[in-house]
Amino acid sequence: PTNALAKTPPMGWNSWNKFHTHIDDAAVRGVADAMASSGMKDAGYQYIIIDDGWQGSRDNNGVLSPNPNFPDMKALADYVHSKGLKIGIYSSPGPRTCGGFEGSYGHEEQDAKMYAAWGMDYLKYDWCSASRVWKDSDMQAAYQLMGDALTKTGRPIVYALCQYGRAEVQTWGQQVGANLWRTTGDIRDQYNSMLNIGLAQSRLASSAGPGHWNDPDMLEIGNGGMSLDEYKTHFSLWAMIAAPLIAGNDLRNMTPDIKDILTNSDVIAIDQDSLGAGGKEIYSAGGAKVWSKSLASGDIAVAVFNPGEQSIRTVLSLEKLGLSGKYQARDLWSHTDLGALPENFSVTVPVHGVAMLRLKKSS
Ligand code: GLA
Repeated sequence: PTNALAKTPPMGWNSWNKFHTHIDDAAVRGVADAMASSGMKDAGYQYIIIDDGWQGSRDNNGVLSPNPNFPDMKALADYVHSKGLKIGIYSSPGPRTCGGFEGSYGHEEQDAKMYAAWGMDYLKYDWCSASRVWKDSDMQAAYQLMGDALTKTGRPIVYALCQYGRAEVQTWGQQVGANLWRTTGDIRDQYNSMLNIGLAQSRLASSAGPGHWNDPDMLEIGNGGMSLDEYKTHFSLWAMIAAPLIAGNDLRNMTPDIKDILTNSDVIAIDQDSLGAGGKEIYSAGGAKVWSKSLASGDIAVAVFNPGEQSIRTVLSLEKLGLSGKYQARDLWSHTDLGALPENFSVTVPVHGVAMLRLKKSS
């Protein structure tokens, strides 16, 4: 990308998964307050992103105003900044967004300038209705237009593409200046939706790296459609992928269990590792899916997922993980050090759950 942002996967919150288009200034401020006071900010969450539904109409000069739910975007951005956080917004390269609101087609530079003037730090740029004005083969050019417009503003703005994994975006996303790109259709707050999206990211592992990330969509943790073990799987899988961690629940009303998942610092450290390697599936055995991810220190993260309907006990071997020598292990969900690992060791994984370890080579 042309900016120097997102050296590690962006962390934040986005309004869509919980609120859809029912979002306003007060809710965004409330979520920013909650992010700052709940421990989320301390855990690394930074961006407060307003998704679709903020737009009003364009005037005769093409200037787009927010709708009356957002009386003063600049003041809102100042408020979010005053909490030590950053703020983001949403649009589309088409004439309309996915929610049917004004898109940026034909107004790319004008809109980019306005976002910068408001103090926006992040733009999620969708694809809805763009097919009316852009051929699929022009997708790269359409995204380049906004990428250039953002660069021209001189303000560092994270650029997030949202084209549902189409057009092999990982092969050209960096060229248009993108820091992340959607690799899938929309996630739902449902175990199979989340799991299928997550497991499918293994093949894209080599496209992730500092400044440019695969985006398997935002988190559903805390929205009510999955069990706690399923949400732990969601968080672990996204961390192994080196995915952006964009919470999608109502931060103003979180149970302690949900907050503990979203702020698990051992797991966040795997996601935010400075090497920026994408993790991938190493093998699948006895119903378990075993993933590993290389870390900057030389440590290895290992996650064992259990999509089955029964709790399993799986034997792992260092050899099968491609490792040799001696390793110490830490359990990243119980936060306990397990000591030196034998060549073969077993983990227990609950139904739809995960076991996640960090292995450190002992000299
Ligand atoms: C698409 C995106 C979602 C959300 C909506 C908004 O469906 O994939 O993440 O931004 O548009 O309308």
